[in-house]
Amino acid sequence: MRLNEVKLLELPKILDDRGNLSFFESQNQIPFDIKRVYWIYDVPGGEVRGGHAYKDLQEVIVALSGSFDVILYDGREERKFTLNRSYYGLYVPKMIWRSIENFSTNALAFIAADAPYNEADYIRDYNTFIQMKADASNGI
Ligand code: TYD
Repeated sequence: MRLNEVKLLELPKILDDRGNLSFFESQNQIPFDIKRVYWIYDVPGGEVRGGHAYKDLQEVIVALSGSFDVILYDGREERKFTLNRSYYGLYVPKMIWRSIENFSTNALAFIAADAPYNEADYIRDYNTFIQMKADASNGI
C-alpha cells in the first residue's frame, strides 16, 4: 500500500444545540467491518505510540478529544496528519509504517480495526518493513 490509499474521512456531523454527534458504521463511512476498537489515553507529554506497521490490518484513527499527529510512511514518502477534530477519521491501510506523537493534554485516540489483536500481524522492526516494501515493489 502507498500513501495515496490513506484517506482522511470526513464523518457525519449532526449539529445540535444540545451538543453535536458524529458516528461511523462498518462499510458505510468506513471501508471495512469493525472487529475491534481500542483507545490510547493518558499519554505523558513527549511520548510516541505506534512505531510499527501491520501486515494485514486496516484501521481508522479518530481524535475523540485533544490532538495528536499521525506520521505515515509507505517506504517512499512520509506524511503527517494532525488530527484535532472528532469528526475526521484517518483511514490507514495495511503495510504503512505509523507513529502517533505530539499528543496534547487529555488527548484520546480512538481506533477501529478490521481484525482482533494479533501480535503476529505486527511488523515492529523498521528495517524488516523497509525490506518487505522493497521486495513487494520488486515483485518478490
Ligand atoms: P501496541 O499496538 O504495540 O501499542 P501502540 O502501537 O499504541 O504503541 O500495543 C501495546 C500492547 O498492548 C501490546 O503489547 C499488546 C496490547 N494490546 C492488546 O492486547 N490489544 C490491542 O488491541 C492492542 C492495540 C494492544
